Amino acid sequence: MHKSTIRQGKKRRAGKKTRLVELGITLDPWQKAVYDSVAPVMILRASRQAGKTTVLAAVAWKAMTIGKTVLILAPNFKQALLLIGHMPRGKKQSEITHESGGKILAIAADEVGSRGYTADVLIIDEAAHLDAEIFRIVRPAVAATGGRIICATTGTRSRTWIDLLSTRTDAQIITVPWNDCPRITHDHIEDARRMWGDAYVAREYLEEPKSDIMSSCQLSGHLNPNLWVPYQARRGPALA
Ligand SMILES: Nc1ncnc2c1ncn2[C@@H]1O[C@H](COP(=O)(O)OP(=O)(O)OP(=O)(O)O)[C@@H](O)[C@H]1O
Ligand SMILES: [Mg+2]
Repeated sequence: MHKSTIRQGKKRRAGKKTRLVELGITLDPWQKAVYDSVAPVMILRASRQAGKTTVLAAVAWKAMTIGKTVLILAPNFKQALLLIGHMPRGKKQSEITHESGGKILAIAADEVGSRGYTADVLIIDEAAHLDAEIFRIVRPAVAATGGRIICATTGTRSRTWIDLLSTRTDAQIITVPWNDCPRITHDHIEDARRMWGDAYVAREYLEEPKSDIMSSCQLSGHLNPNLWVPYQARRGPALA
């Protein structure tokens, strides 16, 4: 299957002071689909550790290098920084600028100073943990730019606002169960199942029939509400 590599080991200057090293990884097929997508709204539902934060960081990085302003929102500051930290192995900071004029701003959702930002791309990591009110406050950041909104979630809490967002007819929903991630082993999943049961595995790792990920990405180019159903049906009680 075709894979895309983000240029290995190439150094790039982002801003005057920060020297950054791009990711030296080969994107999984679903990550490539996320990376290449131009959907105005993207909702990425993926297993724990599938590589959500990594691909969001790659998307942010790409947008920044072509002069876009990217606003990253994550539930806490550490997570927001992690998203930046996934790209460069250099300084972790809440803002990266690029010679193209693009920049990435990472803010914690609980610092709702989230008013007053304007962005070409709004990225929300761990979206299921983001309060609906914060989304309402931050969404206008793309009002004047017609910018994109990209959300990633494992889905441990109420997704009310994500469900609403997914009703946009131009929303692209990409679903990535654990077995679409080559790094997550069957043994790891069975161990989790033994300790915490099916509901936990379904919630944290997404259990859905193994798909041909490239065709499922194409199919999800437009809203397909059925994509939500299997997972919702299996949602169990909150983890104690
Ligand atoms: N395409 C890839 N090739 C190799 N390693 C990868 C790839 N994508 C992600 N990883 C690695 O897998 C691990 C998990 O990635 P990441 O943190 O992005 O996952 P996540 O889905 O955000 O996890 P979590 O659910 O815990 O937030 C990291 O060590 C990351 O570097
Ligand atoms: Mg993550």
